[in-house]
Amino acid sequence: MNNIANHIFIIGMMGSGKSSIAPLLSSQINIPYIDTDRDLIEIMDAEIQDIFQTLTKQKFYDLESTYFLEHVKGKQHIYATGGGIILKQPNRTMLQNNGVTIFLETSINILYSRIISDHNSNRPLLFNKLNKDTLKEILIERKQHYIDCADIIINTDNKQLNTIVQEIIQSI
Ligand code: S3P
Repeated sequence: MNNIANHIFIIGMMGSGKSSIAPLLSSQINIPYIDTDRDLIEIMDAEIQDIFQTLTKQKFYDLESTYFLEHVKGKQHIYATGGGIILKQPNRTMLQNNGVTIFLETSINILYSRIISDHNSNRPLLFNKLNKDTLKEILIERKQHYIDCADIIINTDNKQLNTIVQEIIQSI
């Protein structure tokens, strides 16, 4: 038996709305939330794009994993995770065994249009090759992991944020 709190994990591709949903859900159910990307930016005092460039992508995922697996030992939180959190087996085991994991499922067309219209977007995975095919390849590679980790799958296509939050509340 472990002593890890019963967390709420929000997973899904970049652009699926994790960082927008987590604070809304948090204010409705009174559980604090964290955004792992935002925390890593603060801790490293660098943008994710810079971390990718100076340390490499794999090192970013290592850092993310170390931070995530350590943070979950603390009190109960809602986690807005980075899209790549499901790439590492220890992260997947954590997601599967220590709370409720919600996969925000979003179609490629919608992900793509959100990402290109987000001018503040800082998404190194798509840096210099922002096209639908790249995004599609990433989704194909990851989708089964998202599904395997999820207790609840919420399709977010054409839904308002509040509708998604209500769906989550009803299903947890
Ligand atoms: C990544 C997604 C990003 C960020 C990093 C890697 C990924 O987070 O963690 O750029 O591999 O999908 P968001 O999903 O919040 O954009």
